[in-house]
Amino acid sequence: MIIAITGTPGTGKTTLAKKLAKRHGYRYMDVNALITRHRLYERYDRKLKTKIIDPKKLVRFLIPYTKSLKAKGVVIDSHLSHYLPPSLVDRCYVTTCGLTVLKQRLKKRGYSTQKIRDNLEAEVFQACLTEAQEFGHRVIVRDTSKEK
Ligand SMILES: Nc1ncnc2c1ncn2[C@@H]1O[C@H](COP(=O)(O)OP(=O)(O)OP(=O)(O)O)[C@@H](O)[C@H]1O
Ligand SMILES: [Mg+2]
Repeated sequence: MIIAITGTPGTGKTTLAKKLAKRHGYRYMDVNALITRHRLYERYDRKLKTKIIDPKKLVRFLIPYTKSLKAKGVVIDSHLSHYLPPSLVDRCYVTTCGLTVLKQRLKKRGYSTQKIRDNLEAEVFQACLTEAQEFGHRVIVRDTSKEK
């Protein structure tokens, strides 16, 4: 079983991914940690304090790694996980969140005004959801605004 969890930063991917992994006894794949450990980023944007990632390059790394964990079951935590081929992914969860709640969450993290604006914009346009659907994933939407 291969489950991809995508969504705008702060919408609850990690929370959901860990919950699903624990519930089913699947492995939890921390893509951000892999990106750092294997230097899978192009450069670091100092102004935005963020790593610039080439999704194609990332996916080249993730495909064999994901396949090797299919038998055990794996939950992939990344806002780029929907770039994996739909033929490989059994289920693709997209986490979403109301804008007022999301803004509060991102503020709490100390993100810059620019970074908060960029992420809110991505959520307004449902960028991850739209892409995941366009790529042909079997999408399940999870709104985390009101949950505990
Ligand atoms: N289902 C939920 N109900 C209530 N609060 C939630 C829920 N999921 C996440 N949160 C809150 O939102 C915050 C961000 O969640 P989380 O770290 O899981 O997001 P993320 O999508 O993994 O973010 P990033 O992309 O930056 O890693 C958490 O600190 C938590 O307080
Ligand atoms: Mg996370």
